[in-house]
Amino acid sequence: MKLKLVAALAALIGASAPAFANCDPGETVVKMSLVTALKGHPKGETALAMAERVNTQLNGRMCMEVYGNSELYDDDAALEAVLRNDIQMAAPSFSKFGPYTNVLMMFDLPFLFDGPVEALNFTNSESAAELRDVLTPSGFASLGFWSNGMKQISATRPLRLPKDAEGLTFRVQPSEVIEAQFAALGANTKRLAFSKVYDALVSGEVQGQQNSWSNIYSKGFYKAQDGVTESNHAYLGYMAVTSQTFLDSLEPDLRDQFLLIFELTTHEYNRFAYEINEARAQDVWRETKNIVELTDEERAAWRAAFRPVYAQFEDQIGRDLIAAAQSFNKQ
Ligand code: SIN
Repeated sequence: MKLKLVAALAALIGASAPAFANCDPGETVVKMSLVTALKGHPKGETALAMAERVNTQLNGRMCMEVYGNSELYDDDAALEAVLRNDIQMAAPSFSKFGPYTNVLMMFDLPFLFDGPVEALNFTNSESAAELRDVLTPSGFASLGFWSNGMKQISATRPLRLPKDAEGLTFRVQPSEVIEAQFAALGANTKRLAFSKVYDALVSGEVQGQQNSWSNIYSKGFYKAQDGVTESNHAYLGYMAVTSQTFLDSLEPDLRDQFLLIFELTTHEYNRFAYEINEARAQDVWRETKNIVELTDEERAAWRAAFRPVYAQFEDQIGRDLIAAAQSFNKQ
């Protein structure tokens, strides 16, 4: 079915159309569900580019539909839907894999990476390759790492030093590491799905949050906050997954072409994630005066405040893995 027709039908019945809804009878459908925006977002743009390539290069055999903005599922439900083969792809942030593995929470460690380049170099490394296997026992096939960028922290008051966060409640992803990070500040946490964050900030259910510039801008979080601190204190990235059952169901040559398209798109688009976040940071800077830029001394204070989190988790995650990740930093 052609996209324009789907959009027109969707408008008539009040539902939104997926990007690239052009599946014909006989084509293997790859449905991907994302919680984030599609356009102007690192993950959304990568998924759209992959769908465009699948739908062009594998036309007649495979078709890929991308649903954004939690239109189909929140992340926990998306992972269950992948295992049921109700959808065939998802790319949740590492924090969402807690029900299946402890190891990926490594990425939530504050100041693990100096920046997005170091994080990308690690995820492209041999050391990170073993992380692709940790989801196999649960029935997932890890396709690869997708990048977003560094997290910034925001609240109903400007946060210049760690003590400024004391007593506030922050929305967190479902990660024990992130909860420990806020506990180290004397702050409280509330786990909420991404789709619930904006309303929770507006209603005051939570007073703060942390996320990448692309998420802060596309979901308007900055509009409900009195300060966004350019902290760059942790990395937000994704594991793109399908199920082993789905992969095994494909003809070998189709599976190889699907995996090749994934690989090439990932390689190309992970490099754009930095630029996309920079552009979204500019968008937020243009629209609000409430950005807090940290001095080197202030950033060092945040780093020191978060350091105890490492001792809490290094046995569970593995000291060698943490050291391997940190080896990509300059200092
Ligand atoms: C995402 O970037 O996929 C959402 C992360 C979050 O839940 O904050």
